This record gives sequence, C-alpha cells and structure tokens, in this order.
Amino acid sequence: MRPLPKGMRLGVASAAFQVEGAWDAADKSPNIWDNFCRSIGVIKDNSNAKDACKSYEYYKRDVSMVKFLGVDFYRFSISWSRVLPTGFPNKISKEGSQYYSNLIDELIANGIEPVVTMFHWDLPQRLQDLGGWANPLIADWFEDYARVLFDLYGDRVKTWITINEPKQIGLFGYGGKRFAPAINAHGIGEYLAAKNIIMAHARAWRLYDREYRAKQNGTCSITIATDYRQGMTDSPDDVRAGLDAMDFEVGLYSHPIFSEKGGFPESVVRLVAEKSKQQGYPQSRLPEFTKEEIEFVKGTSDFYGFNHYSTKFYSRQSYKPGMFPVPSYDDDLGAAVSLMDYKPAAVPHCTAIPEGIRKSLKWVKDTCNDPPIMITENGFGTFGGLQDDDRVAYLNSYMTEILDAVEEDKCNVVAYTVWSLMDNFEWDSGLRVKFGIFETDYDDEKKTRIPRASAFWYKHLAETRSFNCDYKPTLEDLTF
Ligand code: BGC
Repeated sequence: MRPLPKGMRLGVASAAFQVEGAWDAADKSPNIWDNFCRSIGVIKDNSNAKDACKSYEYYKRDVSMVKFLGVDFYRFSISWSRVLPTGFPNKISKEGSQYYSNLIDELIANGIEPVVTMFHWDLPQRLQDLGGWANPLIADWFEDYARVLFDLYGDRVKTWITINEPKQIGLFGYGGKRFAPAINAHGIGEYLAAKNIIMAHARAWRLYDREYRAKQNGTCSITIATDYRQGMTDSPDDVRAGLDAMDFEVGLYSHPIFSEKGGFPESVVRLVAEKSKQQGYPQSRLPEFTKEEIEFVKGTSDFYGFNHYSTKFYSRQSYKPGMFPVPSYDDDLGAAVSLMDYKPAAVPHCTAIPEGIRKSLKWVKDTCNDPPIMITENGFGTFGGLQDDDRVAYLNSYMTEILDAVEEDKCNVVAYTVWSLMDNFEWDSGLRVKFGIFETDYDDEKKTRIPRASAFWYKHLAETRSFNCDYKPTLEDLTF
C-alpha cells in the first residue's frame, strides 16, 4: 500500500457536449458539434449527441455517482451556447444558466467540489460563422463569456479551467477535418487557432486575476494535452525529433504561458519559418506574438491542467518528404511516427505505455517552472464490458508511475482525474467507444448507468487514500 501524496485530490470528469444531450432545450442555440454530427460519415458510428447521457435531465444522478465514488471533485464543462444563445452576453439564457447553477448547488450539497471548464470544444455556431478560433476577436468574445461565468458562478466555483486542449481544437478542427469545424487548412489553421486560443485564455485569466480573485478567492488555468513524445532510437537525430515533437504537441501551448521566456518554443518557430520559406510563403505560417502579447500571456496560470492518454515515438531518419500533406504541422515537424513494438489499444489514441505519464510529468516540471500539476484527465477507451480488467490494469500501472513521479522526481501533482465518469459521446468516434468507469446504457430511455469494476477500483482508492497496485476488483464480489 502506498499512501497518496498528502493533499492530492481525486476527481472524475466529463464535458457538456459529451454528456448533456438536450441539444435544443429552451433557447440553446446550435454549436459546431451539433451541426458537425449532421454531416453523413463524419462520426464513425453515425451517432449524434442529441440525447447523449441525458445529463441535462438527470444531473442529480451524475452527482450521486460521484458521491458513490467518494472522490473530492467533479470536473464538468459549460456549454457556451446554452448560457449565451447568441454567443454574446447581450442575452443570458435563464434556463441554461440555471441548469449549471443547479448542478453546482447539488455538488456542493453533496460535499463535492465543482471544477469547471469554460470551453470544451462546443463553440456556438454563430461565433464559428464569424471565424471562430481563426478570428483574433475571439479573445474579446471569450473574455466577455468568462465574465458572465465568473458573475454567475464564481461565488461557488473555486477552480476554473478556461479551455480544454488547445491542440485538439486547432489541429483536428482547423488544420484538419476530423473535428468540428473541419476547416482543413493544414499548416495554417492550427497555428492561427493556437495563438488565438492562448490569447483568449490569457484574457480570461487576467480578468479573473484583476477583478474577481480578491472577492472570489479561486484559481484559474488551462488544460493542455500532455501526451509523451520521444525519439524512436538513441541517435541524436531521433532524440532531437522526440524533443521537437514535445515542443510541437505540448510546448506550442505551454511555453507561452509557463516558460520564463514566453512566446512559442524556439524549435517550432525555426522549423515552421524554414519550411514556410522553402514553400514560397513571404512570412512564416506560424503567427508571431508581439512583445506586449508575450508579456501579457506569460504567467497566466495558477496550476498546470494536464491531460494524458498516450506515448508515441518519432524518427527523423525514417521521415520521407511526401509522407504528409504540404504544408502541414506534421510536415513542419518532419519526423515519422510509430508505436514501435507496443500493441495499439482497442482505441488507438490511448496507448498503454505507463512510463510515458511519468516522463510527461517530469517534462512539465522541467520546462514549465515546476508548477502545481492538476491531472485533469487520464483514462482508457474500450468497446465495453462491466468487468473492465484492461481499464483497471491501465489505471493501476499509470497510478504507479504518477506516484513514482511525485516521490522520486518530486513532481508537484496536486490532483488526479479519471476520464470519464460515464461512457459518453466520444467525438468523431461517437457512442461506440467507451471511456466510462460507469457504463451508460444508450438503449434505455433514461440512459441508465451501472458501475464497472474500475468504478470500484476508484472508490477503493478514494476510501483508503492508499494505492495498492494489486487491487483488481471482481464485480461478482461487489454490489451497487
Ligand atoms: C478530451 C475528451 C475525450 C478524451 C478521450 C480528451 O482529449 O478532452 O473530451 O473524450 O480525450 O478521447
């Protein structure tokens, strides 16, 4: 038994679009994912999130599940177009804003802390029509939205996360077409979005710091996908490729906020500038931060929001021009990627390579000024089953590495969050891919939940606050 680090809080997470359903309740306006799901063929199982887990209707049931687990907090997100149907604060939806107020009250009444993500990918379509994250004015719009949320809920919410995973928003939604809004402007869109997302985050953080912190006494930060990327071999070229891949995938978002120097990482600036020049662009496709912007963004964090799912391996030697579209982010990085001899998991973006989480935590400690790290997501996708031994094995092996990172590398991990409380709408994979420690029965009108073995694993950890890496609950022995 290893005691959890003193004060390390435990939680579970979800996101509005993935669980709420009620896509057209009251005066909510459509968001980009509502609309994306209508296009034939973009969601792998052709499902949509019109109902999802019906959390909008049965939020009290979600709270009782969190209570059953005995964890400290519930991380959920707010749907921008549910609270502000026009996207702007000229009109605050009474019913939409009341929903989150009720959820927050219900959590607090049950002794659970609400941890709130302001934006988890479901941008109001009306703002997308004006350019979305490609329009620098979104920093104004986001600050206005943040003000509404601080005013409505800041008396009760003490942990805010501005934006979930800038990389996934930009790379898959603007650079590519896997995610809404599917702009597919590779080599350009992802970098525009990256800068505008960082500016929007910084505006919201500074607003909190300036006008709300003293009276509301909370914390605010951003969540960055911090998967691990390393060289395929020990050759200096491959080692460099791994470091550059970390800069492209993580540093692009963390460096401007957490490093001493600020701005985008030097390797990304150099590589994108070189490629842009070769390709005949008069200036780099990576936008610059002005000196004022660099200073404005630097230090806009109270903790590092850390999501982790996978490790991948990179090689410059195996890279061949033409491997990736030109221009593109992958081509700018200029490295081949592989899983080496590791088996891909059923859901390919979760590779079960536990040592990667320890390396990522150490990378954050070393490159981001040793911040308090809140692990805001970690979890494993499957295709279902209540006796989810594969998920329990994943969680056991990842928790072992996290505790090693704390005890041996002295990483300051202040919280751990399992993704996800329940099966939910897994973006372009639809309803088929399951991340829940509770199963959701989508065939049932009420979308009933049943705890999986992993829910009992987590309950045991929360109860004992000690970690036993051999604990593998058997459902037959347990009841709900
Ligand atoms: C996202 C979640 C998603 C999870 C599993 C994360 O990147 O924040 O919304 O469900 O990964 O794929």
